[in-house]
Amino acid sequence: MPNTALITGASAGIGKELARYHAAQGGDVILTARREESLNELAAELENNHRIKAHVIASDLAASGAGEKLYNDVKAVGLDVDILINNAGFGGHGIHTERDLSAELSMIDLNVKTLAALTHRFGGDMAARGGGRILNVGSTAGFMPGPQQAVYFATKAFVNSFSQAIDHELRPKGVTCTVLAPGYVETEFAEVANLEGTDLTKSERSAASVAKHGYDAMMAGKLVTINEFGLGVLMNWVVPMLPRRMALKMVDRMQSK
Ligand SMILES: NC(=O)c1ccc[n+]([C@@H]2O[C@H](COP(=O)([O-])OP(=O)(O)OC[C@H]3O[C@@H](n4cnc5c(N)ncnc54)[C@H](OP(=O)(O)O)[C@@H]3O)[C@@H](O)[C@H]2O)c1
Repeated sequence: MPNTALITGASAGIGKELARYHAAQGGDVILTARREESLNELAAELENNHRIKAHVIASDLAASGAGEKLYNDVKAVGLDVDILINNAGFGGHGIHTERDLSAELSMIDLNVKTLAALTHRFGGDMAARGGGRILNVGSTAGFMPGPQQAVYFATKAFVNSFSQAIDHELRPKGVTCTVLAPGYVETEFAEVANLEGTDLTKSERSAASVAKHGYDAMMAGKLVTINEFGLGVLMNWVVPMLPRRMALKMVDRMQSK
């Protein structure tokens, strides 16, 4: 049975572990991110350890039209995508008006635009074939506004909202869409986002455990999943009840250095 997963952001962190986990179940992978060498190393590791085929398509997914281009590249090599994992993303610490505007817009391009384009293209194909799975990596950041990472939190709110609506639209056609909304995970994320030293980075969840949690939830067709039980209670039951300004102050404090 064809079981090919396209995984964005597969060169590091959660995406790399999602690729390892899928390959361990016997599934082929299409790995994409910017760092081609890391992708090739992972592809070799997966093909050596499992009886699967690993394809590499290196791409800057924040570039203009990147989602469309990746779709065309996948089609050009004659592959169908049975599982789409939109995992690539990055954050960035600081006051929005003091941060580099191009970095803020690039975050929207990657975390929002490319994710939507890939969901549109590959989700459309899955619906036409009558089946498929989509896993969009959101964040607990998507459940509230985030002073000192205003754009990042807003991009993840988009992912949470968009993915649930897509699941509702495509489920009758045999396609599910799951949001994985992790809390802090030990990856390159904090360094890239310049968040080291903030209270946000205190928990120590491994990328492998979060990847397994998200992948299993996707296969079970869950709508939204948070990998830590306590955080789930906080996001679903406590945060929505907080006065808005109290929530803003709480997040601001957590992201202060
Ligand atoms: N770590 C956390 O605490 C945490 C918590 C909640 C949600 N998340 C989400 O989890 C997802 C994965 O993050 P992570 O923690 O695994 O971070 P990571 O270790 O920094 O990995 C990010 C991945 O995204 C890729 N990427 C970044 N910019 C890209 C671009 N322009 N084009 C193509 N690929 C790009 C990176 O590859 P290249 O650099 O090779 O391009 C890398 O493979 C993200 O969506 C993040 O928002 C993370």
